[in-house]
Amino acid sequence: MPGSTSDPASRRREPFERRLEPGGDPYPVYRSYREQDPVHRGKAAHPLFPEHWYLFRHEDVSFVLKDPRFGRDWRSVVASPSAPALPDGPLADLVAMVRRWMLFVDPPQHTRLRGRVNHAFRPRTSARLEPYVREQASALLREAGGRFDGMRDYALPLTVAAIAELLGVPEESRQLMRRTTSRLQPVFGGDSTAASLTPAAEAAAELAEAFGSLLEARRRSPRDDLLSELAPACGERGSEAWNETIATAIFLLGAGFVTTVHGIGNGVYLLLRHPDQLRILRDEPGLLPGAVEELLRFESPVQRAPRFPLEDVEVGGVRLARGATVTAVIGAANRDPAVFDDPERLDVRRDARRHVAFGGGIHSCLGAPLARLEIRVALEVLLRRLPDLALDPGAEPAWSPGITRGLDALPLASRT
Ligand code: HEM
Repeated sequence: MPGSTSDPASRRREPFERRLEPGGDPYPVYRSYREQDPVHRGKAAHPLFPEHWYLFRHEDVSFVLKDPRFGRDWRSVVASPSAPALPDGPLADLVAMVRRWMLFVDPPQHTRLRGRVNHAFRPRTSARLEPYVREQASALLREAGGRFDGMRDYALPLTVAAIAELLGVPEESRQLMRRTTSRLQPVFGGDSTAASLTPAAEAAAELAEAFGSLLEARRRSPRDDLLSELAPACGERGSEAWNETIATAIFLLGAGFVTTVHGIGNGVYLLLRHPDQLRILRDEPGLLPGAVEELLRFESPVQRAPRFPLEDVEVGGVRLARGATVTAVIGAANRDPAVFDDPERLDVRRDARRHVAFGGGIHSCLGAPLARLEIRVALEVLLRRLPDLALDPGAEPAWSPGITRGLDALPLASRT
């Protein structure tokens, strides 16, 4: 029927955003844009930004992520933000907090914020967590039993444990962190509807309270953790330095959790769906570090990264004007045949290191060494302890909607 959504020609005319079905397979859509309209003008995302561009090629995505003429803070390009002031309360506090997150600011503020915590995420420092992550992974599998949800019972508690350990969140506060951080997810996933932001704002307020108490405790008696390092310089409760420290702690918890949970879940799911690749890894566990890169390339937990041109810049032959928004589609770049041979094929032997799953440039993922370690150890322990691991045939895994790509549930079964 002409004009119906099943007509391929009319589907091509639909805006990019409408062609992505929530929880559906985005890759055929990415591919058609990469081939036919790689610098695509989309629907205006917001009245403040009349132009909105999407980039699909690896070359363009890498360029925009790395070029300093693209900022991450929309306030750098909008002269007089006309957003109405929010009444005092959790929502206004959430907005104020998010504006202190390093991911949403440009230099020099970005340089300063990242510099305060950079050292704690170096590969050598992250490596110190390996025995702890391994021990936690084994304990979770011991408790999980024969049928379990790979997300709820394994990926999620493992990632919270890792980032909580690095920050110095004690055992008794981790349950709260797990509950509240899940409610923060809309902020990370770019879902800015009031219905999802209100619970996120309440969660942020609870987390701020919990981190406040922890900072005070660490100031009195420091330990060997990141909160203890941040505590001496965080000033008095309510000061800018204090609010900034709380915002950083909450951001690290959220950034380290939402993404890595999906990194582990996607990895387990892909291997179980590709038994030939799983067999290779069981036979040659030494391939695991490279396989982690390939799994991240193939199903990238963060699918898109927004940027704002600080001046007019040409990309792929198209002039992107200051004041526009640009979305670098990471998931499309990671399946670009110009960089990866036969990109739709999962191949754990592939050298996938040119993927952009961790972004690029000054905002490239600070936690990448920790994320790599967590995913590798999570897979290694799972494969070793559960040699007959399978997807539970009675329940279908479900992809979550949103700009992060991952599973809401991953029903697994093992007789071991
Ligand atoms: C598989 C897991 C992960 C993936 C796929 C991932 C992906 C990303 C991406 C794509 C960005 C850049 C976004 C942009 O440029 O707009 C980013 C930034 C960031 N990530 Fe990750 N991440 C992961 C795990 C982690 C972990 C474990 C942490 C630890 C706390 C972390 C902390 C951060 C931080 C702090 C930033 C902001 C860096 C900055 O603005 O300078 N991430 N991540």
